[in-house]
Amino acid sequence: MRIKVTVKDNNLVPGLAGIPAAESAISYIDGQVGVLEYRGLPIEVLAEKSTFEEVCWLLLYGKLPTQAELDTFKQQLVEQRAVPQKVFDLLAALPADGHPMAALSIGYNALGMTSAPCNVLDSAARQLAYAQLIASTPVLIAAHSRLRQGKKVVPTDPKLDIAADFLWMLNGEKPADLVARVLDVALILHADHTMNASTFTGRVVASTEADPYAVCAAAVGSLSGPLHGGANERVLQQLEKIGSAAAVPAWLDKQLADKGKIMGFGHRVYKTKDPRATCIQGLVREMFAQHGTTPIYDTALKLEECVLERLGDKGIHPNVDFFSGIVYQKMGIPTDVFTPIFAIARVAGWLAHWDEQMQDNRLFRPSQIFVGLRGVTYTPIAER
Ligand code: ACO
Repeated sequence: MRIKVTVKDNNLVPGLAGIPAAESAISYIDGQVGVLEYRGLPIEVLAEKSTFEEVCWLLLYGKLPTQAELDTFKQQLVEQRAVPQKVFDLLAALPADGHPMAALSIGYNALGMTSAPCNVLDSAARQLAYAQLIASTPVLIAAHSRLRQGKKVVPTDPKLDIAADFLWMLNGEKPADLVARVLDVALILHADHTMNASTFTGRVVASTEADPYAVCAAAVGSLSGPLHGGANERVLQQLEKIGSAAAVPAWLDKQLADKGKIMGFGHRVYKTKDPRATCIQGLVREMFAQHGTTPIYDTALKLEECVLERLGDKGIHPNVDFFSGIVYQKMGIPTDVFTPIFAIARVAGWLAHWDEQMQDNRLFRPSQIFVGLRGVTYTPIAER
């Protein structure tokens, strides 16, 4: 006997769009007018006045640090940049053409295996993990990037802040002040963004009382997809494929006729321009004025103009990823390292959400709407 179950009360919301998954005091978005705040502070103000380290503290502890608190935190971050040699050896053994997001996920798990166990129910123990995961993320990414090219790992420079030190470890050259500042601001802009896919993933894993390495490794997997953090890589590939500003209108016509997505545009929450895109666009302008423009930038500006003409009425505007890839390319960063840079920033948000989840934890266990068969009779294999 086979009974086909039919759904009478279908209240499924695909993608859980608009369904609250938690109460959170970390960041706030008003997608209609384009507002993003971290702990009540507008993103534009933080981008102008703050640093990534200060923003990490703000997200994790709920307020801006005093000078003494910031100094202590920065010292902890420097000490925690020490990644065990065993972890570097593991990164060196990975396939050279594998994606750096996979290497980061492996790096987090390996770090967990070489660290003392973390009592996730103890807030002091959780605080110890913050510094280790924030500080080690850029080290893991830069080391993997060099090792896969057969180059030596560049040791961290304790005098440099996270953004400048990452560029140093990646390229083996000290970055210009403006370049380091632009990356620092990009990190600020990407540090948290309410209940996005990777943060939700992290909170689900956290709710099982898994350790913070597992939380971050799972969140990295979620961030890697092209509809989330992976979009910044796809934006560059898309602009390279278009080739020039003059080719934009014809390319866009075809893309829309084929019902293809325009990478770097649209957002589940923003129905106007992503405020982070506005901040990063200002930096792009400054960097290109100082260091010269590129054809890809001209193509991007034309694409923005044409997409707004065609899709602006639908609420499709550039998101932060539209401009971040262009900036990173200008810094000489390999395209497949763009999404890992997103992780350098977002790990702060993941950890803040981990802490919030653990303060009042309940295991995530949603329900489903069953649409399969029931009561099926087992057929022996010879009779199928
Ligand atoms: N290009 C073309 N059309 C688009 C785009 C786009 N980038 N984004 C949305 N649309 C269209 C949809 O096809 C849909 O059209 P329809 O009404 O005719 O069916 C309409 O706009 C509404 O869009 P939704 O699908 O409801 O938007 P949703 O909230 O599901 O998707 C998403 C958001 C996934 C980000 C989508 O805009 C997209 O795929 N963008 C490209 C990838 C990208 O840039 N991702 C980065 C997101 S930001 C981040 O992760 C930091």
